[in-house]
Amino acid sequence: MSEALANLLNETRQFPPPAELAANANVKADAYDEAATDRLAFWERQAGRLAWSKQWEQTLDWSNPPFAKWFVGGQLNVAYNCLDRHVEAGLGDKVAIHWEGEPGDTRTLTYADLHKLTCQAANALTDLGVTAGDRVAIYLPMIPEAAAAMLACARIGATHSVVFGGFSADALTNRIQDASAKVVITADGGYRRGKPSALKPTVDEAVAKCPSVEHVLVVRRTGGDVAWSEKDHWWHETVETASPEHTAQPFDAEHPLFILYTSGTTARPKGILHTTGGYLTQASYTTHAVFDLKPETDVYWCTADIGWVTGHSYIVYGPLSNGATQVMYEGTPDTPHKGRFWEIVDKYKVTVLYTAPTLIRTMMKWGEDIPAGYDLSSLRVLGSVGEPINPEAWIWYRQHVGHGELPVVDTWWQTETGAIMISPLPGVTAAKPGSAMSPLPGIAADVVDDQGQSVPNGGGGYLVLTEPWPSMLRTIWGDDNRFLETYWSRFGAGAGSGSGGDWVYFAGDGAKKDDDGHVWLLGRVDDVMLVSGHNISTTEVESALVSHPSVAEAAVVGATDPTTGQAIVAFAIPRGSVETGGEAGEQLIADLRNHVAKTLGPIAKPRQIMLVPELPKTRSGKIMRRLLRDVAEHRSLGDVTTLQDSSVMELIAAGMSGGK
Ligand code: WT7
Repeated sequence: MSEALANLLNETRQFPPPAELAANANVKADAYDEAATDRLAFWERQAGRLAWSKQWEQTLDWSNPPFAKWFVGGQLNVAYNCLDRHVEAGLGDKVAIHWEGEPGDTRTLTYADLHKLTCQAANALTDLGVTAGDRVAIYLPMIPEAAAAMLACARIGATHSVVFGGFSADALTNRIQDASAKVVITADGGYRRGKPSALKPTVDEAVAKCPSVEHVLVVRRTGGDVAWSEKDHWWHETVETASPEHTAQPFDAEHPLFILYTSGTTARPKGILHTTGGYLTQASYTTHAVFDLKPETDVYWCTADIGWVTGHSYIVYGPLSNGATQVMYEGTPDTPHKGRFWEIVDKYKVTVLYTAPTLIRTMMKWGEDIPAGYDLSSLRVLGSVGEPINPEAWIWYRQHVGHGELPVVDTWWQTETGAIMISPLPGVTAAKPGSAMSPLPGIAADVVDDQGQSVPNGGGGYLVLTEPWPSMLRTIWGDDNRFLETYWSRFGAGAGSGSGGDWVYFAGDGAKKDDDGHVWLLGRVDDVMLVSGHNISTTEVESALVSHPSVAEAAVVGATDPTTGQAIVAFAIPRGSVETGGEAGEQLIADLRNHVAKTLGPIAKPRQIMLVPELPKTRSGKIMRRLLRDVAEHRSLGDVTTLQDSSVMELIAAGMSGGK
């Protein structure tokens, strides 16, 4: 880490925007001044980009911090803003989604088509007894029905909780139970890596443990056999036969729009709650500003999955509220071949591409000859999200995807922030490879030290957000205390007596300000790992390991990995009677890796598990993950003086099996 860090901070290259893009940009440098002069008036103008049924009376109510209310008294319908208003403006025949299935099947949905499907789904959900405020879980592959399902919920005021299709039955169960979802929308399966991958059996397993679920709506995607119960309804027999007439009813600006679960420092995921008016305002504005999206001419493609916040804000709500034409892809980047992404860019003439550092690093590994085999000349803006992007990957992206001249916007945000917070503007910023640069207009961020004091340029510390923003999380579903504890009690007024000052949001990321005051993100400072940009807590994986009958104790660390950013490395102490020698040990390791994948989902499968006789602990019994990280990253050990028993590391090194 320290070497990588030093390289990062020695990065001095800077790339100003192409002149033509700068001249025609949606948002120019004056936006920063405008927002600095009157932040709330700035956000009011951005809210004005949406269609409201009732004007708000107050821009921000911060009288009960950190519980914010934005656009108080205002009313709007999110689905109306994403669909009806474009159809009413005569854009019904415009393509909303160019959908590409992994096996190569395609569908084209115009705004009128997506509007019709959403209205039908809204009517079908209503017929199933779903009303405003009810929760609906969505567990779908990347098919247009996923967007329609989310928009249908928004249309009738039901709060959706999308669960990534790669999550296990246990993970799905916990999420359904936490939100008491009434309906689950799923599919028989989807296509992954060249073959159908079933979803319905996972839902069946979960629903059996979730009495709150009254109905399950099932999209037929793969045509595979499915078990059927009296709660199940086929989408094509329910939604596609429903009336396409539906009048969207306005909801309060603070009406709950969605819950999305993210990993925290304990095993229990946090249900991040987002509401209606402020969320849509910022998701919509940032799409317009950060991607310089021109709905008349751009073809936009965000490669994320709808199960993550990036899919919520930058596949569904941001692009559709702007009336964009976008590409949606079901599958993996190397199916059926490693040029699949570039083939899609070429085929649809994609102009704006938003992807993740882990994908860029994978493409780097596969070689520049692959993108060079396609016509990528349509591209004009490139985006990155999910984890820090190394300068080499940034340069490779610009060079081999961006024909050596395109702006790369490295966008920092989180599930909790709802929308992009820190990023270059493609027509304004002279970006530095590896830096998210500056807070967007209307956003206030800082880097502070342990005491919460702003660090000078050149200093490092913790990233904080110092003013409320429209798309901020409103709470953790059902757990206001955890919301206060996790985000607001580290610094500022929320830290309690004596700290004084304003409310400060603690993001959980380490950061540095360079000599020009630009922000460089340095990774998580808590026990959350970023594996391929996905947030996984060490505790979650530890709990999964300990739930296996052969494991007595476990510790998990995120080790630097050239492709996935961080990789999960686990240390497990087997129970006394368990055979760990030779083949039995290898078998146990394989079983444990599969056990974690089954418990949490394949993305949480450890890269490596080491069976150890002991774990390094401090005198107070805290596991010293720092030392385990040294082992996992093949470094010589750091300071061991606080170890309760300093011989334990030798024991680990000697008794370790399963090392690479
Ligand atoms: C964490 C949030 C935002 C959507 C995807 C992830 C890391 C995200 C960047 C970036 C450095 C980044 C942070 C953050 N992160 N984008 N551009 N540079 N780090 O959402 O799962 O809620 O994860 O992802 O550590 O806290 P998420």
